[in-house]
Amino acid sequence: MKILVIGTGGREHGILEALRRTDPSAHDPAAGSTAPVDPRPLELFAAPGNPGMAQLAECRAVDPASPAAVVALAQELGAELVVVGPEAPLVAGVADALRDAGVPTLGPDQAAARLEGSKAFAKEVMAAAKVPTAQARTCIDDATVAEALDAFATSGAGTPVPWVVKADGLAGGKGVVVTTDRAEAEQHATDCIAKEGQVVIEEYLDGPEASVFCLLDGTTARALPAAQDFKRAGDGDLGPNTGGMGAYSPLPWAPEGFEDEVVRTVAQPVADEMARRGTPFVGVLYVGLALTAAGPRVIEFNVRFGDPDSQAVLARLDSPLAPLLLATATGTLADAAEPTFGEQPACVVVLAADGYPASPVTGGAITGIAEAEARGAVVLHAGTRTEDVSGDPAGQGARTPQLVASGGRVLDVVARGADLAHARENAYAALSLIDLPGGWARTDIAAEAAAGRITL
Ligand code: AMP
Ligand code: GLY
Repeated sequence: MKILVIGTGGREHGILEALRRTDPSAHDPAAGSTAPVDPRPLELFAAPGNPGMAQLAECRAVDPASPAAVVALAQELGAELVVVGPEAPLVAGVADALRDAGVPTLGPDQAAARLEGSKAFAKEVMAAAKVPTAQARTCIDDATVAEALDAFATSGAGTPVPWVVKADGLAGGKGVVVTTDRAEAEQHATDCIAKEGQVVIEEYLDGPEASVFCLLDGTTARALPAAQDFKRAGDGDLGPNTGGMGAYSPLPWAPEGFEDEVVRTVAQPVADEMARRGTPFVGVLYVGLALTAAGPRVIEFNVRFGDPDSQAVLARLDSPLAPLLLATATGTLADAAEPTFGEQPACVVVLAADGYPASPVTGGAITGIAEAEARGAVVLHAGTRTEDVSGDPAGQGARTPQLVASGGRVLDVVARGADLAHARENAYAALSLIDLPGGWARTDIAAEAAAGRITL
């Protein structure tokens, strides 16, 4: 089966790695499945890809945000499934164009991708589907902002709580301000209104956060095991928001049946509501939640796998990924075998470039990946490229490609362990073998959970 993965980062490398590792042609026919198992080995393609992905797939150039270019490539390759990694192509209508061309695609149409593309739209769908989430108001001017900030200034118990002010559109994780400083909340609201004409102000949700990736085939919803991701740059969840500095799965502190509850109270109602609107959701619904004292509440939706949280989830997958994604793309998830996951936890630590997130320094040479992998870790490329450097100081012209950093988040070091403490130890031990000048990582990924200090 020919599969094309669109994207350039650690998430897409993780998807390819899981596809390869669970290649169904190398597995027993999936137990419990009523669907025929494809005996052909996987042929994997990536576009644009990265040097890590190039070890698992044939990489092709493409403008991922151009629907016509992605369709032309999928047709040229004869792709039988396209997996769209990032949100921008989905919001640009790449999945619509692929489906119109008859190519099974994992990723929602533009209309359904608005669940990530517009916070106000996501809130509207949640209200219609009766999904538990923070109370929110969409504000359009200073007066409505002031009213909303007054309304959410205190908890039911009368104690002051932070304000949550969100840009409506895609902001690469930088659109949300959570603050107890009213002037800062007002300033962010004013900035958002100036840019987009509106801003979402909502109730503060207090509780540990979880990511649950749900596969939706337009009708049926199914959850993968939950993960937790670390969005802040600094240890102790201090510092600026980033794209994600690490993750682990499963969550030892989550209540029994948590993922099933998310399907029942969130993913299935959203699937039903989107179908009712005539814009069925086909792809991955990333449900970001806070586990509050009153139960799980949705913080946000994304319309694709999380990065780096899905790397932790897919690292534990034992059953074949390709037929599961194909079933999602073709509306046959109800007939697909339940995916199975290994007990051993997975921990992902991100190696970031000097200066990330404000102004990452690119071009630094990366060494030690083979040593880290020899220690049992899987090293996924998030922001790398190869550069030809002269390997011959005598000037004979010999050139060896050198791997260098090309983005803020450079590598994801993924490791498993008998328990979460060992998984994180293994990830950090492997990371210590990798060198990138000025490179840095958080030192506390999964530490609280491994020590049993997260409670509900
Ligand atoms: P988002 O872009 O919606 O994922 O928000 C980014 C981060 O802001 C989330 O991961 C949370 O840590 C925080 N956040 C967003 N909304 C809320 C909320 N209602 N209450 C508390 N924290 C929030
Ligand atoms: N892990 C956060 C994200 O993918 O948006």
